[in-house]
Amino acid sequence: MRSLKIFVSSAAPRILIIGLLLALSACGKPKESPADKGIILGFSQIGAESAWRTCHTRSIQEAAAEAGVQLLFSNAEQKQENQIKAIRSFIAYQVDVIVFVPIVSAGWDNVLREAKDAGIPVLITDRKIDIQDESLYAGYIGTNSVQEGRDAAGFLLTKFQDRSATAPASVKNPVRIVELSGTTGSSAADGRAQGFREVLAEHPEFQIIYSESGDFLRSKGYELMRAILKDYSDIDVIFSHNDGMTLGVLDAVKEKGLNPGIDIVIVTVDAEQAAIDALRRGEVNCVIECNPKQGPQTIALAKQLARLETIPRLIHVNETVFSEGDDLLSIGPRGY
Ligand code: AHR
Repeated sequence: MRSLKIFVSSAAPRILIIGLLLALSACGKPKESPADKGIILGFSQIGAESAWRTCHTRSIQEAAAEAGVQLLFSNAEQKQENQIKAIRSFIAYQVDVIVFVPIVSAGWDNVLREAKDAGIPVLITDRKIDIQDESLYAGYIGTNSVQEGRDAAGFLLTKFQDRSATAPASVKNPVRIVELSGTTGSSAADGRAQGFREVLAEHPEFQIIYSESGDFLRSKGYELMRAILKDYSDIDVIFSHNDGMTLGVLDAVKEKGLNPGIDIVIVTVDAEQAAIDALRRGEVNCVIECNPKQGPQTIALAKQLARLETIPRLIHVNETVFSEGDDLLSIGPRGY
């Protein structure tokens, strides 16, 4: 089954999108009874900012094709307004289920109420939302970003256990951490920051001396790190919220004449192949997996919703941690 792409850009007038959907409706939407018709799923993805994101998209497209689910795909190009337009288009087309990745947590109330009023169930994937009326969506499947932040901090407690052992003295000579966070207002960035701080709050020998958003982009990771390294000469740790930014960080650190992984401890999230390769080279010390292969579970849940079944409110996908000292040769190809 081929997936159908709907490109919604900020410049695209809504009327044009509705026109496109009406045309699709005239020629494509099956007229069978609800019991035997093919499921039509509207999927709003946030963009293609990282290899992780591309893998997440591919995983959902492949799982839909395998299950015989027709996918209306929209790439929001990193704009919430484009996601809202896409969701409204899916409602106009009367899809059976809407799945979307909320780029940021807030601002979904109105459009989700419209979906509910139209009787279309909504499944949220990858990132979470903040909403007063929880009945406006059926459930969430994705990663546990708070746990990812806790795992990053947990690695540092082990790595710097000598300093932790002399905690009172170390407060005068703390482990100095720079944090590059992801997209501001996204649950992925907020959760990682929250979990990281939750663990370190008990350990004053660790201090976050600087934190800024690099928007999950490699280019911003590089630019930010270049600027930070001009202002700070005594960084012990860089905690980067994704591998894309980390690859930019590695370039900037090397350009400065420093050895990443030795002069500065690097902790990153995602576990793309490039980050695992850097871990094997000793340039990265710890990689927290954020699992993008959510397609099969997402599509299975979407099918349940299309059959009007109840699904669990919250499903976290399996994730692991890879760190220096592990048997790194046993890690299989990541596929992203
Ligand atoms: O929401 C998951 C995050 O979004 C991934 O860590 C990152 O690579 C992506 O852009």
